[in-house]
Amino acid sequence: MNDTFLMNDTFLMLGIESSCDETAAAIVAANGTILASEVASQMDIHAAHGGVVPEIAARAHLDAIDMVIDAALATAGIGIEAIDGVAATGGPGLIGGVVVGTVTAKAIATARDIPYYAVNHLEGHALSPRLVAPVTFPYLLLLVSGGHTQLLAVHGPGDYERYGTTMDDAAGEAFDKSAKIMGLGYPGGPAIEQLAVAGNAAGVRLPRPLKGADHCHFSFSGLKTAVATRHAALAGAGDDATPADLAASLQAAIADCLADRARRAMIRFAATHGAATLVIAGGVAANRAIFDRLETEAAEAGFGLVVPPAWLCTDNAAMIAWAALERRQAPDRLDFAPRPRWPLDPDAAPPPGRGVRA
Ligand code: KG4
Ligand code: ZN
Repeated sequence: MNDTFLMNDTFLMLGIESSCDETAAAIVAANGTILASEVASQMDIHAAHGGVVPEIAARAHLDAIDMVIDAALATAGIGIEAIDGVAATGGPGLIGGVVVGTVTAKAIATARDIPYYAVNHLEGHALSPRLVAPVTFPYLLLLVSGGHTQLLAVHGPGDYERYGTTMDDAAGEAFDKSAKIMGLGYPGGPAIEQLAVAGNAAGVRLPRPLKGADHCHFSFSGLKTAVATRHAALAGAGDDATPADLAASLQAAIADCLADRARRAMIRFAATHGAATLVIAGGVAANRAIFDRLETEAAEAGFGLVVPPAWLCTDNAAMIAWAALERRQAPDRLDFAPRPRWPLDPDAAPPPGRGVRA
């Protein structure tokens, strides 16, 4: 499957994303023109439960997928007969949703007799900046979402070197779980960021897990536990910190941890490749305090910083279509089986002493 597959600039790829709580479809040309990118979010459905419920998500993907593909075709002003290839997230993610997207893509590919591509969702995030900015290989990626927190050297399509991953919770989970503890809504990141505006970031002392450690891995579950303890104490006598102080302090702690790990990764990357570009992708990249912190850190290390626009940072299908286009490889077989786990760098060393996520 490594042969170069011929695609001219006008080759139109339909992308489908359904691995978490967004059902998305996009149409992207091989030259990088985005004709459409539609996203149907399930956020409201899951908000009542304080997080994504896999069974509900799978059903919601099934309900939304045809409509989202139709909307993408309508926005692009084309019919399904104009599509030259179809790519869907094949993992990692919630398997029910991945199956819905995969089966839909295979059905379209079969009915139209066009190539089908199974895309690694993480590769979609990893290559997404190249859709909007002239970022050249190799670059360093900090992927920070609700499901993943990873530092990766991106050498090229299909060629990744994982420097670090989380030993427990993802950074987005630290926001979401803390927000739940504090009685704020889901998703927690935007709620915490909003509350933090009125707070003092030095108001509540919180730990910085793994800060200064001599590797590039992350850990966030201790922060969530500290938030639970401090939140319970807020109501008690003698503690004059406010919920806004706690929100601001949590945001600062997460920003500190991300900046510290990214700094170590930039040093490691620069030792081999020289200073280059740090790209931040994933929903947490939307956070202003985290952006500011990483901007300073990148500048000090001599790296440029690229943060794709918010619609491209969060889950979308344009990045899935683009990853398939970037690969320029022969299509995948129709018997591709969806993968709940699918690491980008299968040879990466696990974090010390713990199990690892994909
Ligand atoms: O990439 P994404 O849309 O979905 C996946 O997890 O794949 O990321 C969602 C995560 C959630 O955990 C959400 O709380 C977090 O990104 N997030 C934020 C902000 N906006 C979204 N975290 C901090 N600050 C924000 N402004
Ligand atoms: Zn994602």
